[in-house]
Parts: sequence; structure tokens; C-alpha cells
Amino acid sequence: MGVPTILGLESSCDDTAAAVLRGRQVLSSVVMGQADLHAAFGGVVPEIAARAHAEKLDLAVEQALAQAGVTLDDLDAVAVTSGPGLIGGVLSGVMLAKGLATALDRPMIGVNHLAGHALTPRLTDDLPYPYLMLLVSGGHCQFLIVRGPQEFTRLGGTIDDAPGEAFDKTARLLGLPQPGGPAVEARARMGDARRFAFPRPLLDRPGCDLSFSGLKTALLRLRDRLIADQGGLHAQDVSDLCAGFQAAVRDVLTEKTRRALEIYLDGAPQAPALAVAGGVAANAALRGALQDLCAERQVRFTAPPLALCTDNAAMIAYAGSELLAAGQRSDMTLAARPRWPL
Ligand code: KG4
Ligand code: ZN
Repeated sequence: MGVPTILGLESSCDDTAAAVLRGRQVLSSVVMGQADLHAAFGGVVPEIAARAHAEKLDLAVEQALAQAGVTLDDLDAVAVTSGPGLIGGVLSGVMLAKGLATALDRPMIGVNHLAGHALTPRLTDDLPYPYLMLLVSGGHCQFLIVRGPQEFTRLGGTIDDAPGEAFDKTARLLGLPQPGGPAVEARARMGDARRFAFPRPLLDRPGCDLSFSGLKTALLRLRDRLIADQGGLHAQDVSDLCAGFQAAVRDVLTEKTRRALEIYLDGAPQAPALAVAGGVAANAALRGALQDLCAERQVRFTAPPLALCTDNAAMIAYAGSELLAAGQRSDMTLAARPRWPL
């Protein structure tokens, strides 16, 4: 195999995705979201997600091949998310990968979705191991020292909600549109973060664990008090609540990142770097604070472009390429795993 051409499949949450990678070149990356299907339910409905993946995966693959200008025969391997995630969707991907790998007689590799996020900064940047990764999305929040394609040290993570989930719930409580992150960020820009006192959960405790459910409760209480006192929310109240909430998320994430950096730098990495991934990494306030922290500690800051930061299949193809290069293969016993910590 020269430069391998790899098909990636991702169907572990609410995006049906397929991508074709040649070496480190993303030839195509198709992501079919399901937001409209779940909108009425206020969250991802597993049954609906599973059916949509089963219906759309073939089409996603067809589009990914067409956009890449390759045929099934050109593929050297198939990489698929085999967990963690909603079991129905993961199963759809794994079954399709098994079918393709068998029919084409090509190797198949099962990829951990989190490893996909964690390795992707190396797809777009020459980033040597080990680096510190902060994964912040709608479903995940954790600090990892990434030492190799299969070697991760988890330093801590959320003990309840993920930050993206907290942004989404905040938006819902304040009558803002979904996804909540961008909506809350836009209103926060017009708000005064000091007007309301939001807690800074777990900062008083050592370690790198985080908690976001208390922020949501604090927001609910502040909102209800305003409504009781003045009969409703004014536009400025919403902006100030968004600003206060966002500042609290930024502060806890930045402080815990400072602690994670401490542990990581203790190992004296040769070219220290912090990589962020996940949808919440798009937040400019958070990004700015993390960049300042990195500048202060003389650590390089890197983040994949947003389209590769949020759920996609190019990240699965890329992680698969690293695993294949390390001699890994999956066989037909590859299982779909709803839980699979790194
Ligand atoms: O990684 P991602 O696309 O999906 C999963 O978690 O599966 O992340 C989506 C999350 C949503 O919760 C969304 O509200 C949040 O990322 N998000 C943001 C911003 N853009 C997206 N949160 C804060 N600020 C943003 N600018
Ligand atoms: Zn994800």
C-alpha cells in the first residue's frame, strides 16, 4: 500500500457521516445531521437516530466516494466508529463496514469515537506525541494526555453534564434557538457577566474533574426569580444571564486546563502542546482564555478547523489510518460498544 485511501464511517450519535482520506488529505467529508428529526423532542431520541443512520449511511458513503472521485475498488481499508455511542447507530456503521470489507476483501478497523476526536489535531497540524487534549462537546468533556494512537492518559472529566449540553439547556431555558452554544455566545457578547453571581463548580476541589449541572440549576433559579419579580425576562436580562453563564464555563474550564497542563508538563514533553476539539471549542471566549493560558505557559495551542472538530467521519478515517499503520486490524467479531472509555 502506498499512500492508503481509507473510507471512514461515523454514526454514533446524531450525525451520519462518511469520508474518504488519502494519506493526510481529506478527499471528502459528508456529514448528514439529524437535528430536524430530534428538534421536537428536546434531545436526541435513540430510536429515531438509529433508523435515520440505517437509512442514510449508504447515501453518505455514495456521496463521499463521488465527491472524492474514487470508487469502492480504490479503497485500501474501511475505518468505522465501533463505540462509544448510541448502540443502534454504532451497529449500523459496524455492519456496513463488515459488509464492505468482506465484499472488497480489504482490512477493516474499529475506531473509538473519542480517539477519533483526540487524534484529529494531527491530521491538520504536525503535532508530535505527547500532547494534552481538551475534548469539549455536547456529549463529552475530558482531559487526555495523548501519547500514541492507542495510548491515552485520562486526567479528569465532567462528573455530570458536558459543557455543550449545558449551553444547549441554557438556551432552551432562555428561549434561544438550538444548538445553544452559538446562540448563547452571541447574546453573551451583549451582556454584563458581573450582573449575576454564577458558581464556579469544583474549583475548591483538587484535580481535573469538572461539573456543569450546578450552573444550569443556578441559571434556572436566577431566571425564575427575575420572572417572579418583574413578570418576565427583558432582552438585557437574557444577555446578562448568557454572559454570566459563559464566563463561569470559561473560568472552570480554563482553571482545570491549568491544572491538567501542570501534570502534563511535569512529564517534560519535548514540544508541549494543548489541542482542543469538540463543538464547544468554537467558543471564542473559551478559546481566547485557553490561548492566553498557553502563551503564559509557553505551550503551543492548536485546534482542528471546526468542521473536523465537531462529529465527522474524516476523524475516524484518520484515527483508523494511524491504527492500521501501527499494525492493528479488526475482524468479523468486531462488536458495537455503547460504552468504551479510552
Ligand atoms: O462536537 P459536537 O458537534 O457534537 C457532539 O457533542 O456530538 O458539539 C456540539 C455542541 C453543542 O452542544 C453546541 O451547543 C456546542 O457544541 N457549541 C458551542 C458553540 N458552538 C457549538 N458551545 C459554545 N459556544 C459555541 N460557539
Ligand atoms: Zn463526538
